[in-house]
Amino acid sequence: MLSAIRDLLRTARSIAVLTGAGISAESGIPTFRDAGGLWKNFRAEDLATPQAFARDPKFVWEWYDWRRSLIAKAEPNAGHHALAELEKRAAKFTLITQNVDGLHDRAGSTHILKVHGDIWTLRCTRCGHERHDPRPSLPELPPRCPCGAIERPGVVWFGENLPPDLWEKAERAASAADVFLVVGTSALVYPAAGLVHLAKASGAKVVEVNPAETPVSEMVDFSRRAPAAEALPLLIS
Ligand code: OAD
Repeated sequence: MLSAIRDLLRTARSIAVLTGAGISAESGIPTFRDAGGLWKNFRAEDLATPQAFARDPKFVWEWYDWRRSLIAKAEPNAGHHALAELEKRAAKFTLITQNVDGLHDRAGSTHILKVHGDIWTLRCTRCGHERHDPRPSLPELPPRCPCGAIERPGVVWFGENLPPDLWEKAERAASAADVFLVVGTSALVYPAAGLVHLAKASGAKVVEVNPAETPVSEMVDFSRRAPAAEALPLLIS
């Protein structure tokens, strides 16, 4: 099975990849729904919704600031590096990630669609201006835009739409792919998880890399039940 997946990846004309929190697990960043995951210890409604932010922006920011400091200490792992290497070899390659941690960028991937945003981006709640701020810990919470209004994390919260331009590109990449790799996601959160179905329905061979079964496991063509940092380097070797 390993050699069949390698052949697929070697001969594909167009590869699309969907990653989730699992790919960063071996970098020491907690996932959301595994044992010890963020949503086991925190309530999404209190931290990752526009209503929570409107109620208590400082509280929400403290949580994002804590996550920024965790991520700042982390390094991309062999899984992130393998995907950056795959991008170099593939004729056409799109990396769609639900992760906001920026580890794919740091590993050298370039064609990245961050459909859930980026934790290192701050967005003004009044004028919409966005800026990149790589400081692990922000000196003032909530931070303020030069226009004077408070900024929010540049991420997508529950109940919000994904950025339409990025989403359109993600759908186009999924439907054009002849190989679709789905890595480290519980495939529970839509619309992102819908990309797996779209790719399959459009004729892609779908390969899942995840130590656990997910709702898409039944429909994929190949499964590697292993951690991403172990499985991905083998798939591209
Ligand atoms: P989840 O926490 O829901 O799922 C993580 C997945 O990674 C699980 O299926 C695990 O089995 C798998 N996993 C764990 N360790 C792994 C490893 N070493 N290698 C590969 N896979 C591993 O995270 P996501 O699917 O990313 O959204 O969650 C989707 C969205 O829900 C997130 O983007 C976030 C969250 O709420 C928002 O905040 C909008």
